[in-house]
Amino acid sequence: MHNAGFAALGLDWRYVASEVAPERLAEAIAGARTLGYCGVNLTVPHKLLALPMMDALDESAKAWGAVNTVLFEAEDAEGVWTPVGQLREVHGPVRTRGFNTDADAVIRGIREDLAIEPRGARALLLGAGGAGRTAALRLADEGVSVLWLVNRTESKAEALAVEISDRFPAVEVRTGIPDTDLEFIVNATSLGLRPGDGLPLDPEAYPLQRADGVYDMVYRPAETPLLRTAREAGCRTANGLGMLLYQGAAAFSLWTGRPAPLEAMRNALHAEIYGR
Ligand code: ATR
Repeated sequence: MHNAGFAALGLDWRYVASEVAPERLAEAIAGARTLGYCGVNLTVPHKLLALPMMDALDESAKAWGAVNTVLFEAEDAEGVWTPVGQLREVHGPVRTRGFNTDADAVIRGIREDLAIEPRGARALLLGAGGAGRTAALRLADEGVSVLWLVNRTESKAEALAVEISDRFPAVEVRTGIPDTDLEFIVNATSLGLRPGDGLPLDPEAYPLQRADGVYDMVYRPAETPLLRTAREAGCRTANGLGMLLYQGAAAFSLWTGRPAPLEAMRNALHAEIYGR
Protein backbone atom coordinates (compact mmCIF):
# COMPACT_ATOMS: atom_id res chain seq x y z
CA MET A 1 0.00 0.00 0.00
CA HIS A 2 2.87 2.38 0.72
CA ASN A 3 4.51 1.79 -2.64
CA ALA A 4 1.16 2.42 -4.36
CA GLY A 5 0.84 5.60 -2.30
CA PHE A 6 4.32 6.79 -3.28
CA ALA A 7 3.56 6.08 -6.94
CA ALA A 8 0.25 7.96 -6.74
CA LEU A 9 2.10 11.04 -5.47
CA GLY A 10 4.99 10.64 -7.92
CA LEU A 11 7.48 10.14 -5.08
CA ASP A 12 10.67 8.22 -5.85
CA TRP A 13 10.44 6.34 -2.54
CA ARG A 14 10.31 2.64 -1.69
CA TYR A 15 8.86 0.69 1.23
CA VAL A 16 10.61 -2.60 1.93
CA ALA A 17 10.02 -5.33 4.50
CA SER A 18 12.85 -6.79 6.56
CA GLU A 19 12.75 -9.55 9.12
CA VAL A 20 14.72 -8.50 12.19
CA ALA A 21 15.48 -10.58 15.29
CA PRO A 22 14.28 -8.77 18.44
CA GLU A 23 17.80 -8.65 19.91
CA ARG A 24 19.02 -6.79 16.82
CA LEU A 25 16.27 -4.17 16.68
CA ALA A 26 18.46 -1.28 17.88
CA GLU A 27 21.10 -2.15 15.27
CA ALA A 28 18.45 -2.38 12.55
CA ILE A 29 17.01 1.04 13.39
CA ALA A 30 20.51 2.57 13.50
CA GLY A 31 21.24 0.92 10.15
CA ALA A 32 18.10 2.33 8.55
CA ARG A 33 19.05 5.78 9.84
CA THR A 34 22.54 5.47 8.34
CA LEU A 35 21.08 4.32 5.03
CA GLY A 36 19.02 7.51 4.83
CA TYR A 37 15.59 5.97 5.42
CA CYS A 38 12.81 8.45 6.18
CA GLY A 39 11.09 6.12 8.63
CA VAL A 40 10.29 2.61 9.71
CA ASN A 41 7.20 0.64 10.71
CA LEU A 42 7.47 -1.96 13.43
CA THR A 43 5.34 -4.97 14.12
CA VAL A 44 5.17 -7.69 16.77
CA PRO A 45 7.32 -8.10 18.90
CA HIS A 46 9.17 -4.86 18.17
CA LYS A 47 6.43 -2.38 19.10
CA LEU A 48 7.11 -2.63 22.82
CA LEU A 49 10.87 -3.20 22.55
CA ALA A 50 11.36 0.01 20.56
CA LEU A 51 9.82 2.28 23.19
CA PRO A 52 12.98 2.84 25.30
CA MET A 53 15.18 2.99 22.17
CA MET A 54 13.64 6.16 20.75
CA ASP A 55 15.40 9.54 21.06
CA ALA A 56 11.98 11.21 21.35
CA LEU A 57 8.44 9.91 21.80
CA ASP A 58 5.27 11.40 20.43
CA GLU A 59 2.32 11.61 22.86
CA SER A 60 0.65 8.74 20.99
CA ALA A 61 3.52 6.35 21.77
CA LYS A 62 3.60 7.48 25.40
CA ALA A 63 -0.15 7.16 25.86
CA TRP A 64 -0.52 3.71 24.28
CA GLY A 65 2.85 2.33 25.36
CA ALA A 66 3.94 1.02 21.97
CA VAL A 67 5.72 2.29 18.85
CA ASN A 68 4.59 1.13 15.42
CA THR A 69 6.00 4.07 13.44
CA VAL A 70 9.48 5.57 13.64
CA LEU A 71 10.20 8.95 12.06
CA PHE A 72 13.80 10.00 11.37
CA GLU A 73 14.30 13.71 11.99
CA ALA A 74 17.15 16.19 11.48
CA GLU A 75 17.42 19.90 12.22
CA ASP A 76 16.45 22.32 9.46
CA ALA A 77 18.26 25.63 8.82
CA GLU A 78 16.42 27.19 11.80
CA GLY A 79 17.32 24.32 14.12
CA VAL A 80 13.80 22.83 14.12
CA TRP A 81 13.61 19.01 14.17
CA THR A 82 12.05 18.10 10.80
CA PRO A 83 11.29 14.73 9.15
CA VAL A 84 14.26 13.86 6.91
CA GLY A 85 11.85 13.03 4.09
CA GLN A 86 10.81 16.68 4.09
CA LEU A 87 14.33 18.16 4.04
CA ARG A 88 16.29 18.95 0.88
CA GLU A 89 19.56 18.04 2.57
CA VAL A 90 20.34 16.43 5.88
CA HIS A 91 23.10 17.96 7.98
CA GLY A 92 24.05 17.04 11.50
CA PRO A 93 22.64 14.28 13.66
CA VAL A 94 19.49 12.33 12.81
CA ARG A 95 17.19 11.37 15.69
CA THR A 96 14.37 8.86 16.01
CA ARG A 97 10.87 9.82 17.10
CA GLY A 98 8.41 7.08 17.95
CA PHE A 99 4.67 7.25 17.22
CA ASN A 100 1.72 4.95 17.61
CA THR A 101 -0.71 5.14 14.69
CA ASP A 102 -2.50 1.87 15.57
CA ALA A 103 -4.69 3.27 18.32
CA ASP A 104 -6.30 6.04 16.27
CA ALA A 105 -6.85 3.56 13.43
CA VAL A 106 -9.23 1.54 15.65
CA ILE A 107 -11.41 4.60 16.22
CA ARG A 108 -11.33 5.55 12.55
CA GLY A 109 -12.27 2.00 11.54
CA ILE A 110 -15.32 2.01 13.81
CA ARG A 111 -16.37 5.52 12.83
CA GLU A 112 -15.84 5.26 9.07
CA ASP A 113 -16.21 1.57 8.22
CA LEU A 114 -18.93 0.67 10.73
CA ALA A 115 -20.47 4.18 10.63
CA ILE A 116 -20.92 4.13 14.41
CA GLU A 117 -19.83 6.96 16.71
CA PRO A 118 -17.68 5.56 19.54
CA ARG A 119 -18.17 8.58 21.83
CA GLY A 120 -20.95 7.83 24.28
CA ALA A 121 -21.43 4.30 22.95
CA ARG A 122 -21.77 1.07 24.90
CA ALA A 123 -19.07 -1.23 23.59
CA LEU A 124 -17.87 -4.79 24.10
CA LEU A 125 -14.23 -5.59 23.45
CA LEU A 126 -13.20 -9.21 22.94
CA GLY A 127 -9.53 -9.88 23.72
CA ALA A 128 -7.05 -8.41 26.17
CA GLY A 129 -3.74 -9.12 24.42
CA GLY A 130 -1.58 -6.42 22.85
CA ALA A 131 -4.14 -5.30 20.28
CA GLY A 132 -7.02 -5.57 22.76
CA ARG A 133 -5.27 -3.50 25.40
CA THR A 134 -4.47 -0.67 22.98
CA ALA A 135 -8.03 -0.71 21.61
CA ALA A 136 -9.58 -0.72 25.10
CA LEU A 137 -7.49 2.23 26.28
CA ARG A 138 -8.11 4.19 23.10
CA LEU A 139 -11.88 3.53 23.22
CA ALA A 140 -11.92 4.72 26.83
CA ASP A 141 -9.97 7.82 25.81
CA GLU A 142 -12.48 8.46 23.02
CA GLY A 143 -15.24 8.52 25.62
CA VAL A 144 -17.28 5.34 25.24
CA SER A 145 -19.85 5.38 28.04
CA VAL A 146 -19.63 1.72 29.05
CA LEU A 147 -16.86 -0.69 28.08
CA TRP A 148 -17.32 -4.42 28.57
CA LEU A 149 -14.23 -6.61 28.44
CA VAL A 150 -14.23 -10.33 27.68
CA ASN A 151 -11.11 -12.46 27.41
CA ARG A 152 -10.43 -16.20 27.47
CA THR A 153 -8.00 -15.60 30.35
CA GLU A 154 -10.35 -13.63 32.60
CA SER A 155 -7.58 -12.31 34.87
CA LYS A 156 -6.15 -10.33 31.92
CA ALA A 157 -9.51 -8.66 31.26
CA GLU A 158 -9.80 -7.84 34.96
CA ALA A 159 -6.31 -6.32 35.10
CA LEU A 160 -7.10 -4.25 32.03
CA ALA A 161 -10.38 -3.10 33.60
CA VAL A 162 -8.44 -1.83 36.63
CA GLU A 163 -5.98 0.03 34.40
CA ILE A 164 -8.81 1.69 32.48
CA SER A 165 -10.70 2.67 35.63
CA ASP A 166 -7.52 4.30 36.97
CA ARG A 167 -6.73 6.21 33.80
CA PHE A 168 -10.26 6.99 32.60
CA PRO A 169 -12.53 7.22 35.65
CA ALA A 170 -15.43 8.62 33.62
CA VAL A 171 -15.77 5.34 31.72
CA GLU A 172 -17.82 2.56 33.28
CA VAL A 173 -15.76 -0.62 32.80
CA ARG A 174 -17.18 -4.08 33.33
CA THR A 175 -15.95 -7.59 32.66
CA GLY A 176 -18.04 -10.50 31.46
CA ILE A 177 -21.00 -10.88 29.13
CA PRO A 178 -23.00 -7.62 28.83
CA ASP A 179 -26.51 -7.43 30.18
CA THR A 180 -27.45 -4.48 27.95
CA ASP A 181 -27.84 -3.72 24.26
CA LEU A 182 -24.65 -2.40 22.66
CA GLU A 183 -23.73 0.05 19.94
CA PHE A 184 -20.80 -2.11 18.87
CA ILE A 185 -18.59 -5.13 19.52
CA VAL A 186 -14.87 -5.26 18.59
CA ASN A 187 -12.99 -8.51 18.17
CA ALA A 188 -9.32 -8.08 19.10
CA THR A 189 -8.62 -11.79 19.60
CA SER A 190 -6.90 -13.87 16.95
CA LEU A 191 -9.92 -16.16 16.64
CA GLY A 192 -11.17 -16.22 13.06
CA LEU A 193 -7.73 -16.16 11.45
CA ARG A 194 -7.48 -19.93 11.05
CA PRO A 195 -9.95 -22.15 9.21
CA GLY A 196 -12.11 -23.96 11.74
CA ASP A 197 -11.74 -21.28 14.43
CA GLY A 198 -14.80 -20.87 16.61
CA LEU A 199 -16.44 -17.56 17.53
CA PRO A 200 -14.74 -15.28 20.08
CA LEU A 201 -18.20 -14.69 21.61
CA ASP A 202 -20.87 -17.34 22.17
CA PRO A 203 -24.06 -16.07 20.47
CA GLU A 204 -26.09 -18.18 22.92
CA ALA A 205 -24.62 -16.14 25.77
CA TYR A 206 -24.96 -12.82 23.96
CA PRO A 207 -27.26 -12.71 20.90
CA LEU A 208 -25.57 -10.52 18.29
CA GLN A 209 -28.89 -8.90 17.36
CA ARG A 210 -28.44 -6.90 20.55
CA ALA A 211 -25.52 -4.99 18.96
CA ASP A 212 -25.79 -2.43 16.15
CA GLY A 213 -22.38 -3.26 14.70
CA VAL A 214 -19.51 -5.73 14.90
CA TYR A 215 -15.93 -4.81 14.02
CA ASP A 216 -13.44 -7.64 13.55
CA MET A 217 -9.75 -6.71 13.58
CA VAL A 218 -9.10 -9.88 11.58
CA TYR A 219 -9.16 -9.09 7.85
CA ARG A 220 -8.15 -12.43 6.37
CA PRO A 221 -10.56 -14.10 5.65
CA ALA A 222 -12.57 -11.03 4.62
CA GLU A 223 -15.62 -12.45 6.41
CA THR A 224 -14.77 -14.31 9.60
CA PRO A 225 -17.32 -16.64 11.23
CA LEU A 226 -18.03 -13.82 13.71
CA LEU A 227 -18.77 -11.34 10.92
CA ARG A 228 -20.92 -13.84 9.06
CA THR A 229 -22.96 -14.56 12.20
CA ALA A 230 -23.25 -10.83 12.86
CA ARG A 231 -24.36 -10.07 9.30
CA GLU A 232 -26.98 -12.82 9.51
CA ALA A 233 -28.17 -11.30 12.78
CA GLY A 234 -28.68 -7.98 10.97
CA CYS A 235 -25.66 -6.12 12.43
CA ARG A 236 -23.48 -3.72 10.49
CA THR A 237 -20.09 -5.32 9.99
CA ALA A 238 -16.56 -4.33 9.03
CA ASN A 239 -13.25 -6.15 9.06
CA GLY A 240 -9.82 -4.93 10.10
CA LEU A 241 -8.56 -4.03 6.64
CA GLY A 242 -9.50 -0.41 7.31
CA MET A 243 -7.44 -0.40 10.51
CA LEU A 244 -4.42 -1.66 8.59
CA LEU A 245 -5.00 1.03 5.96
CA TYR A 246 -5.54 3.88 8.45
CA GLN A 247 -2.47 3.12 10.58
CA GLY A 248 -0.46 3.01 7.34
CA ALA A 249 -1.98 6.23 6.03
CA ALA A 250 -1.06 8.05 9.24
CA ALA A 251 2.54 6.78 9.03
CA PHE A 252 2.68 7.79 5.35
CA SER A 253 1.69 11.36 6.24
CA LEU A 254 4.25 11.55 9.06
CA TRP A 255 7.08 10.51 6.73
CA THR A 256 6.09 12.45 3.62
CA GLY A 257 4.29 15.44 5.17
CA ARG A 258 1.48 14.89 2.65
CA PRO A 259 -2.05 13.53 2.89
CA ALA A 260 -2.06 9.82 2.14
CA PRO A 261 -3.66 8.89 -1.22
CA LEU A 262 -6.16 6.64 0.53
CA GLU A 263 -7.89 5.12 -2.46
CA ALA A 264 -4.65 4.11 -4.20
CA MET A 265 -3.45 2.58 -0.93
CA ARG A 266 -6.76 0.83 -0.27
CA ASN A 267 -6.84 -0.66 -3.78
CA ALA A 268 -3.28 -1.97 -3.43
CA LEU A 269 -4.10 -3.54 -0.05
CA HIS A 270 -7.20 -5.20 -1.48
CA ALA A 271 -5.31 -6.57 -4.46
CA GLU A 272 -2.52 -7.89 -2.26
CA ILE A 273 -4.70 -9.47 0.40
CA TYR A 274 -7.74 -10.65 -1.52
CA GLY A 275 -6.16 -10.93 -4.98
CA ARG A 276 -8.71 -8.64 -6.61
P1 ATR B 1 -2.24 -9.44 19.71
O1 ATR B 1 -0.99 -8.65 19.78
O2 ATR B 1 -2.73 -9.73 18.32
O3 ATR B 1 -3.33 -8.87 20.57
P2 ATR B 1 -1.85 -11.45 21.77
O4 ATR B 1 -1.31 -10.40 22.67
O5 ATR B 1 -1.18 -12.77 21.70
O6 ATR B 1 -1.87 -10.92 20.27
O7 ATR B 1 -3.40 -11.63 22.13
C1 ATR B 1 -4.21 -12.59 21.51
C2 ATR B 1 -5.63 -12.45 22.05
O8 ATR B 1 -6.45 -13.47 21.44
C3 ATR B 1 -5.74 -12.67 23.55
O9 ATR B 1 -6.84 -11.92 24.02
C4 ATR B 1 -6.02 -14.18 23.62
O10 ATR B 1 -6.65 -14.59 24.81
P3 ATR B 1 -5.76 -15.00 26.10
O11 ATR B 1 -5.39 -13.70 26.75
O12 ATR B 1 -6.67 -15.82 26.94
O13 ATR B 1 -4.57 -15.76 25.57
C5 ATR B 1 -6.97 -14.33 22.46
N1 ATR B 1 -7.02 -15.70 21.96
C6 ATR B 1 -6.07 -16.34 21.24
N2 ATR B 1 -6.46 -17.59 20.95
C7 ATR B 1 -7.70 -17.76 21.50
C8 ATR B 1 -8.64 -18.83 21.55
N3 ATR B 1 -8.39 -20.01 20.97
N4 ATR B 1 -9.81 -18.62 22.21
C9 ATR B 1 -10.07 -17.43 22.80
N5 ATR B 1 -9.21 -16.39 22.79
C10 ATR B 1 -8.05 -16.54 22.14
